[in-house]
Amino acid sequence: MDLDKSPARVREMFSQIAARYDLLNRVLSFGIDQGWRRRTVKLVPPEGDGPILDVCTGTGDLALAYWRASRGKRPVVGTDFCQPMLEIARRKCCRTGAMGQVTLLEADTTQLPFADDTFQIVGVAFGLRNLSDPDAGLREMTRVCRPAGRVAVLEFTMPTAWPLGKLYGWYFHRLLPQIGQRLARNTRAAYNYLPESVGRFPQAGALAERMQAAGLSEVWWRPLTFGIATLYVGRKVRGGL
Ligand SMILES: C[S@@+](CC[C@H](N)C(=O)[O-])C[C@H]1O[C@@H](n2cnc3c(N)ncnc32)[C@H](O)[C@@H]1O
Repeated sequence: MDLDKSPARVREMFSQIAARYDLLNRVLSFGIDQGWRRRTVKLVPPEGDGPILDVCTGTGDLALAYWRASRGKRPVVGTDFCQPMLEIARRKCCRTGAMGQVTLLEADTTQLPFADDTFQIVGVAFGLRNLSDPDAGLREMTRVCRPAGRVAVLEFTMPTAWPLGKLYGWYFHRLLPQIGQRLARNTRAAYNYLPESVGRFPQAGALAERMQAAGLSEVWWRPLTFGIATLYVGRKVRGGL
């Protein structure tokens, strides 16, 4: 069956779960999702004082992780096309003192409102898989990245090693949609969509090839927490492809 990733449907789904999104992330990942974002910042640290962009920023956690690492010295921008998610991100920025140092903008990741070669790092956490055209998203992220800057993609993956692969498959496909539905007080849709979209998304070498096709070189990836999530990193080719 086709997975409906039309922008209208994806935006509506995240609008419905926005208020409980952070709680669900913490519960469903047993609290390790923030660790994956911190690891992303450690493995792809800011260099120099160029600005940093987090696309599909949602409630702003990766943008805030980069803001903490930058101690306000570098501009950090977060973009998303779902206002209710951005509203939560705004409140979090107020609470943490990041307001004015993290800029939050409504924008579609496949049509970013920035000039070519602007950001030293362009990151995305658990967002690329939701795009109706992930290759267009990768090209756009690469376009706004500075030559020799880095594009970082943090995404869920399915662990393959036995017996974790089997156990996690059961948790992810059977238990997680039920817990998600209860906590989000939402239709089953959003938390059925999660395992389905992860299962169909390219992993490891397959995603690395797509990143290379978008104009990135030196692409590497690192599985996190036994491969439940994976960080992919590429450097923008100087002077373009
Ligand atoms: C699973 S959430 C991830 C949020 C956040 N990055 C995190 O680490 O938790 C996916 C986000 O991608 C956003 N999104 C999906 N497609 C998008 C698009 N084409 N342009 C901008 N945002 C998009 C959704 O609105 C949602 O906030």
